[in-house]
Amino acid sequence: MRLKRTHYCGLLNKNDVHQEVVLAGWVQGKRDHGKLIFVDLRDRYGIIQVVFDYDKNAGFFKEAEKLRSEYVLAVRGQVRRRAEETINPGLATGEIEIDVQELEILNSSQTPPFYIEDGIDTDENLRLKYRYLDLRRPEMQRSLQLRHKVLMSLRRYLDEQGFWEVETPLLTRSTPEGARDYLVPSRTVPGSFYALPQSPQLFKQLLMASGVDKYFQVARCFRDEDLRADRQPEFTQIDLELSFCTGRDIRRETEGLVHYIFKETMHKEVEIPFKVLPYAEAMERFGSDKPDTRFAMEIADITDIAGEAGFKVFRGIIAQGGVVKGLNVEGCGHFSRKEIDDLTRLVQSWGTGGLAWMIPTEDGFKTPLAKFFAPAQCAKIKERMQAKPGDLLLFVADQWEPALKVLGQLRVYLAQRLGLIPQDKDHFLWVIDFPLVAYDAEEKRYMANHHPFTAPLDEDLPLLDAEPVKVRSQAYDLVYNGVEVAGGSVRIYKKELQEKIFKILSLQAEEIQEKFGFFLQAFQYGIPPHGGIAFGLDRLIMLMAGKKSIRDVIPFPKTAAGTCLLTGAPAQVTAGQLKELHILPVKRENKKEKIK
Ligand code: AMO
Ligand code: AMP
Repeated sequence: MRLKRTHYCGLLNKNDVHQEVVLAGWVQGKRDHGKLIFVDLRDRYGIIQVVFDYDKNAGFFKEAEKLRSEYVLAVRGQVRRRAEETINPGLATGEIEIDVQELEILNSSQTPPFYIEDGIDTDENLRLKYRYLDLRRPEMQRSLQLRHKVLMSLRRYLDEQGFWEVETPLLTRSTPEGARDYLVPSRTVPGSFYALPQSPQLFKQLLMASGVDKYFQVARCFRDEDLRADRQPEFTQIDLELSFCTGRDIRRETEGLVHYIFKETMHKEVEIPFKVLPYAEAMERFGSDKPDTRFAMEIADITDIAGEAGFKVFRGIIAQGGVVKGLNVEGCGHFSRKEIDDLTRLVQSWGTGGLAWMIPTEDGFKTPLAKFFAPAQCAKIKERMQAKPGDLLLFVADQWEPALKVLGQLRVYLAQRLGLIPQDKDHFLWVIDFPLVAYDAEEKRYMANHHPFTAPLDEDLPLLDAEPVKVRSQAYDLVYNGVEVAGGSVRIYKKELQEKIFKILSLQAEEIQEKFGFFLQAFQYGIPPHGGIAFGLDRLIMLMAGKKSIRDVIPFPKTAAGTCLLTGAPAQVTAGQLKELHILPVKRENKKEKIK
């Protein structure tokens, strides 16, 4: 490199006029006007127009003619004000340009497979294959920068609050988050495997036993589960654990952290403390344990009214302990039969029996169920649903949880379709008092809802033996605009209670010893009361950046099939490597042979 950079392209402004500068960057585009060539030069801060003028500098004009998109250059020149009629108000540096006096082409480039600009409509697989080019695009650079700023600010904040950043191992044993493990074979202990951590859960609790008192880590976690837009096989948690604290203390610390991050990185004042919703109420009102509360359309219950009416479907389901719940889709009474039929098919695809509908009129309802509901019952339904003529009432009859979940999904689906969700709001919400366990009919046993170390609510302890599903836990989730961005709990720290919970979860003594023996031993040496929380950093950044997928805020993400299109991982290894790891490859059946 002959020329040494003095300034960034995107940071120059009209106060720099007359300055001599050396800039470096990529060619965003070129406009060749014969004796004048205009090049947009891009670096990570933005774009500036640099001008090659044959009449002033014929010497390197031939070189400038060769420039193509994504060539890498350095230019020396003078900042000058653009002529009034050439000012570009769409560009931050649009009032100035560089009168180039020296050009150094640092590298050439092939034509990139897509435009290096925002808002491109390119197949994501192509973007992932050429991720280094994709990351050149300004919106991706902004996501990377936001991620960096959030990490910096949270480290600053947590340090000020007395947290220590401690690293825990990646090559470890299975952790209890309930997903499938990624395993790493050991070369030195034949036949044994490390598991990559699903979270640092056990280590962070052990750090409390070690007296660390306040811990945090920017922790990479690995979970082999079905992937979606907000799930990756490896992702990053902001993981916290604190000693001698209540769930409320942990929530206060978390709120302080969120408030600080938003202020530092987005200049936004998030309102704290956050609202709190018990799980049962979140389900009843919004049909979700992560409700989007930026819009209303709450669920109402008409089980009592439906129980009196003559509609057999409803009565049958109520007789089996079910419920009838509904939504008022305000002002949507104009939906056509086809639209309602499509909604019915949609909820059926989510696993419920059907969808009943009623359109309030001045004197009753327009509905296929008219003959089953007496005028007094119609009046009650209208009142319960706060319905006016022209609204659309939709009902699902099913057992409590499936009915609410379907309506919760329908609520979000309709709000998205009707544009009811304000995009400029940041709604944070705690969901607390989750059930401690749920019954798994397939496994025929109780399973921990969070993980087996989560403490029950003290007041529900008497229910533990007789009705474990009624016991609420000291677990909490932080929900941001309808997405679960963090989850945690107060932990059990008494050996006797932990053993009791293991028993309820039907974990056998041997299994407990094998999986958690090392962990439980620490409980015999004075472990303090403690609890914690973990943020999904990728999800948090995704929402802050206004993106729809966490892949857009992870520099090198994987596809839904768990592959990396850039590197080709996962990949075959040699027979020699496998042998060294004491692994015998299983021969996969040759499909063609099988057909013969
Ligand atoms: P949990 O399993 O709820 O809790 O995870 C915490 C947060 O991590 C994020 N998250 C994910 N993000 C991207 N891809 C995934 N596959 C993925 N899975 C989870 C979510 C979630 O809220 N050890 C406990 C925390 C604790 O109890 O302190 C834990 O891991 O945003
Ligand atoms: P059927 O008698 O099964 O033809 O249903 C009559 C109406 O009730 C149709 O509009 C169905 O979509 C609706 N329906 C059927 N099952 C349910 C259900 N579980 N919840 C709500 N509506 C239902």
